[in-house]
Amino acid sequence: MKIIMLGAPGAGKGTQAKKISEKYQIPHISTGDIFRSNIKEGTELGKKAKGYMDQGALVPDELTIGMLIDRIQKEDCSDGYVLDGFPRTIPQAESLTKAISEMGQKIDFAINVDVPDENIINRMSGRRACISCGATYHIVYNPSKVPGVCDVCGAELVLRDDDKPETVKKRLSVYHDQTQPLIEYYEKEGVLVNVDGTQELNKVFSDIVSILGA
Ligand code: AP5
Ligand code: ZN
Repeated sequence: MKIIMLGAPGAGKGTQAKKISEKYQIPHISTGDIFRSNIKEGTELGKKAKGYMDQGALVPDELTIGMLIDRIQKEDCSDGYVLDGFPRTIPQAESLTKAISEMGQKIDFAINVDVPDENIINRMSGRRACISCGATYHIVYNPSKVPGVCDVCGAELVLRDDDKPETVKKRLSVYHDQTQPLIEYYEKEGVLVNVDGTQELNKVFSDIVSILGA
């Protein structure tokens, strides 16, 4: 099953993509996580991406498209994948459609996790991310067992650099300008499904499972 997660920053794409990946045994591929691990490792790609990310801007398509297409051509993607944070622009969507059709594949579902802007700032200010494995939590809605400590690996949890309210506002405006048009793109492709992302996170997931099939 080949799945794309759509939705505003903080809508819960990463949270739901992780649950989908575990239930359906397909890789969870997050371009945000790939960039963050490159930043942590100090690679050339990480150095280039960091400036854009800290400003709440998108990393240019030239740096993003090739990286993602290479990733989905790997062996572990032959049964499918869940893409989280890609595509984010019309050129990215068109490149993806072209690349996978050359591989004889198509996207089965583009899941739009719908959350109004008013809820987003609150979610982002309470999000905490693991400095080591990237797992995410929310201090109220999805707390770790021990405050400030990752359940998965025991490392420290911090506020992401781009989760400061000023940067979140910029990311939301970039989302409306550049990413929201993808909803129409995938509607035309006949694969768009909408879920109400304001619900409790397990309810959001059960709605997704009822769409994907148990
Ligand atoms: P990326 O990491 O993709 O960030 P994003 O899309 O802005 O999404 P987030 O990770 O912020 O949110 P999410 O929707 O995954 O929400 P989450 O599940 O964590 O990208 C970061 C940056 O990298 C971009 O700004 C850009 O610069 C660059 N980039 C990445 N991909 C790119 C691309 N393709 N092209 C160009 N540039 C790219 O949930 C948020 C919080 O809410 C958490 O605390 C969570 O616990 C909580 N929560 C989740 N669901 C619920 C719920 N139902 N109820 C209550 N709380 C909930
Ligand atoms: Zn961790």
